Amino acid sequence: MSEPQHVRESGTGTPLVLLHAFPLSSRMWERQLAVLPGPDGTAARVLAPDLRGFGAAPQGGEEPSLDVLADDVARLLDRSGVGRAVVGGLSMGGYVALAFARRHGDRLAGLLLADTKADPDTGEARANRERIARAVLARDSVRLLVDEQLPQPQLSATTVRERPEVVDRVRALMSEAAPAAVAWAQRAMAARPGSRDVLPAVSVPALVVVGEEDAITPVGDARAMAGALPDAELRIVPGAGHLTPLEAPDAFDDAVRALLARVTAADRP
Ligand code: MLT
Repeated sequence: MSEPQHVRESGTGTPLVLLHAFPLSSRMWERQLAVLPGPDGTAARVLAPDLRGFGAAPQGGEEPSLDVLADDVARLLDRSGVGRAVVGGLSMGGYVALAFARRHGDRLAGLLLADTKADPDTGEARANRERIARAVLARDSVRLLVDEQLPQPQLSATTVRERPEVVDRVRALMSEAAPAAVAWAQRAMAARPGSRDVLPAVSVPALVVVGEEDAITPVGDARAMAGALPDAELRIVPGAGHLTPLEAPDAFDDAVRALLARVTAADRP
């Protein structure tokens, strides 16, 4: 099985894996890579891989499954000499983080779930994913997906009104996605099981972050996850939609710093 070939990394300290949204890449975490290690670079070791087919990562030959991506993350930790890490992801990245918790729970030092949900797709959502997968492959272009997703439902009305540069940035990031990666990821997400059963077994500190205006994985999904996790903080970020770290980076980064502090306190003998 091939491994993700590309990971952005910065800092030393508590390992923090950040898994990107669909159909973006590790580039969405540029700000967190710069800021979360702190002024002297020792507050966190941030590892942001490109998930299969996105960014600089090869697609590989496996059938679509988020378990494949979760196992890629475990191999990334092995390769990086990391035993346990805070593993976090946004939306699709959050689904992968939940698959990681199911399959590699002993390697979690903390869990970060941003703008994501533990429930599986409805039949209608699965059919829509297959429609998009076929369309982008047939047209050899992701334009249809970008036009359907931006500026809404991805971004909040507040972002669209007050931060047009964020709309442009997300459009550029989405447009870089390869049609084959989009189709593979849509099919992998359609096939994912529900993860509600995983949450009560996560005994490490957890953070659930959601944009107050998230129209894709709304606040109710975040509340349900936070309520099922034994040790979770819920942060609802005003003015943000589905892409909180890009739309409200200060609030997002503050929430992650608080999680890292809780992880450090929990690991202290
Ligand atoms: C994402 O942002 O990763 C997507 O909205 C996830 C999904 O399509 O369910």
